[in-house]
Amino acid sequence: MTKRAVVKGLGTYAPPRILNNHDLERLVDTNDEWIVTRTGIRERHIAAPEETTADMAEKASRLALQEAGITGDDLDFIIVATNTPDTLFPSTAARLQARLADRPVGGVDLQAGCTGLIYAIEMASAMIQSGSYQRILVVGADKLSSITDYQDRTTAVLFGDAAGALVLEGHEDTEFGVLGSYLKADGRGGDLLSLPAGGSRLPASAATVEEGLHYLKMNGNETFRFAVKAMPEAVEEGLKRVGLTVEDMDLLVPHQANLRIIDAAVRRFNLDPDRVAINIERYGNTSVGTIPLALEDARREGRVHRGSVVVLVAFGAGLTWGSTIIRWGY
Ligand code: ACO
Repeated sequence: MTKRAVVKGLGTYAPPRILNNHDLERLVDTNDEWIVTRTGIRERHIAAPEETTADMAEKASRLALQEAGITGDDLDFIIVATNTPDTLFPSTAARLQARLADRPVGGVDLQAGCTGLIYAIEMASAMIQSGSYQRILVVGADKLSSITDYQDRTTAVLFGDAAGALVLEGHEDTEFGVLGSYLKADGRGGDLLSLPAGGSRLPASAATVEEGLHYLKMNGNETFRFAVKAMPEAVEEGLKRVGLTVEDMDLLVPHQANLRIIDAAVRRFNLDPDRVAINIERYGNTSVGTIPLALEDARREGRVHRGSVVVLVAFGAGLTWGSTIIRWGY
């Protein structure tokens, strides 16, 4: 008998505080019109200073567990995809276990830039298929405001904070669930998007702080060029691996980094707007949070049904890119 990971629950969280383009006009030399036309973003949600990645992850996870009808004690494993863990160690997954469960549960953080959630879903799916794990909580949570330089207009306008969580469960002989994925990393492009200081390469010091190396650095133009190639490649290759084509796809849920990057993929595949989930206008780029947020919004709009073929696709730091194909429901 073959086992497959089906999605039993989905939960999301975005902090209540909103930073809109006009607020940013007071922080850096920018304007609403530039931000909207170049990125599609109008506002983003920003966590409170004391609100951490684990706090956001917990809120999203509780909603996903509730929908799945289970508690943290029913979980066999927790994977938290994040680029902004509460601390480098202990892991955010271990922190989350302590909040959600009364008994120990295996858990690990996964770092793969904005593609982290796609990687985490595939790893959880493979663990479930192996038969060793039955229920896995997969979380994508990032507090990008904690590594954003609000004096740098080239990055400050892009990012927001959020979390999303999925409960995956093993079901026998089902046509539903995670059908397969396509994952790639190419470190030769690593310097296009990085957090230079704070690791073993450049430990935090007064000098690194003085130079602002604890903030995210990005070559926007080169990242853009990479993204417009990587997203369509990941969609096509992911679908090919599971024996499907773009025509079979009911909903594309792309990483929300820039509306122009999403539009390029939509044009390439000649997609009707109801086959694409877009909500970048209200959240900006929340890294591993974008896909669950967009998926949840599409679901609320009645665009995700039992049996829908949903393609999640992302790219990000690493460089990394990838897709996962899910037949929704169970
Ligand atoms: N407001 C006003 N002007 C600005 C701003 C701003 N916020 N930012 C840049 N500009 C100016 C530039 O200085 C430049 O001025 P110049 O022509 O006088 O030199 C002009 O606008 C054009 O700048 P570009 O960088 O060429 O603008 P572009 O259209 O490429 O948009 C952007 C920049 C939005 C960053 C785009 O390149 C992009 O979205 N890149 C991809 C980003 C991305 O996907 N990141 C993924 C992150 S994933 C993760 O892992 C976190």
